[in-house]
Amino acid sequence: MDQKANPPRSRYTRRSTAEQVTLGIDLSGKTVLITGCNSGLGFETARVLASRGARIIGAARTLEKAQTAARKIDGEVVPVACELSELDSVAACADGVSSMNQPLDVVICNAGIMALPELQQKYGLEMQFLTNHLGHFVLVNRLLDRVKQAPAGRIVMVSSLGHYTSVPGGINFNNLSGEKNYVPFTFYGQSKLANLLMSNELSRKLRGSNATSNAIHPGIIMTPLMRNIGSLRSTLASLASWPVSRSVEQGAATQCYVATSPGLEGFSGHYFADCNPARMSAHAQNAELAVRLWKVSEELAADYL
Ligand SMILES: NC(=O)c1ccc[n+]([C@@H]2O[C@H](COP(=O)([O-])OP(=O)(O)OC[C@H]3O[C@@H](n4cnc5c(N)ncnc54)[C@H](OP(=O)(O)O)[C@@H]3O)[C@@H](O)[C@H]2O)c1
Repeated sequence: MDQKANPPRSRYTRRSTAEQVTLGIDLSGKTVLITGCNSGLGFETARVLASRGARIIGAARTLEKAQTAARKIDGEVVPVACELSELDSVAACADGVSSMNQPLDVVICNAGIMALPELQQKYGLEMQFLTNHLGHFVLVNRLLDRVKQAPAGRIVMVSSLGHYTSVPGGINFNNLSGEKNYVPFTFYGQSKLANLLMSNELSRKLRGSNATSNAIHPGIIMTPLMRNIGSLRSTLASLASWPVSRSVEQGAATQCYVATSPGLEGFSGHYFADCNPARMSAHAQNAELAVRLWKVSEELAADYL
C-alpha cells in the first residue's frame, strides 16, 4: 500500500469524545494492544474500543493491574504485564502477545510518566526516556511482524505537545543518562519527541507494507500523569473549565480516532491533535535526527530486539 500524503480534516473537535469519534465503527475481529490500560487515557481507550467489538490486549505494569482494569471493562480484554522500564518484562510481554498467533490490527503506545522531580535512572538511562521511548521501541519492534500480518496494521504513538519543549538539539545523545543537567519537563519533552521521531522513522521503514505509524497529542487532561507537577497541579485543577483542558473521555478521542478511522487508512508519518492533522516541531520533522535516534535505540536495546 502506498502511504498517503495529506490526512483529511475531520468534523471532530477538542470537545469530541472517544465514544463519539468511534460511533458506528465495527471493530469485531480486530485485535488492539494498548499499553497503560489501567489508568487515564489508556483505560478509556480500552473501554471504548472494546465496546466497539475489538479484542483488547491490555498491558499494565503488573498482571494484577491489567486484570483489575479488564474486570471493569465490558468486552474482551486479555490482561498482560508490561513494565516498560524493565526490558526483560517488555520482551516477555511481546513474546507472550506474539505467541497468541494472531495479527495485531492496532498497537497504541499510550503508557507514560511525566516530569519525575528527581533524576531516576536504569541501565544508565534517564527514566522518562527509558519508559516512554525505549520500552515502547522494544515492544513495537518485537511485534512488528504481527502488525504487518494485519490487513492494515496501525501503530499509534501517544506523544505530546510537550515534544516542543525538549532539550537543545531535540535529543541530547551525549546526555541520555540525564546526569549533566536534569530538568524534569525538558526530559519529558525529550521522551515525547522521541515518540514522534520513532513514529516518523517507523513510517519510513513501513513503506511498501500495509502497516502505518502515526503520533498524537491527546490534549491537556487531569489524570494521574500530573502527580509530579506539584503546585502546577492545583493551578491546572482550578482551570478544569479552562478552554484548553478536557475530560478523560475527550482526551482519549484522538488516539481512538487515529487508531480506527476508516478515512485514515494508508496515512502514515503524521501527527494529530484534536482528531485532526497538527503541526509537529522542527526537531520532529528532522529525518536525520529520527534515523540517529533509531540507530542509538537499536544499540541501547540490542540485547532485547
Ligand atoms: N494527561 C495529559 O494531559 C497528557 C498530555 C499529553 C500527553 N499525554 C500522554 O498520554 C499518555 C497517557 O497518559 P495519562 O494522562 O492517561 O496518564 P496516566 O493516567 O498516569 O496513565 C499512564 C499509564 O502509563 C502507565 N505506566 C507508567 N509507567 C509505566 C511503566 N514503567 N511501565 C508500564 N506502564 C507504565 C501507568 O501505569 P501505573 O498506573 O501503574 O503508574 C498508567 O497506566 C502518556 O503517554 C502521556 O505522556 C498525556
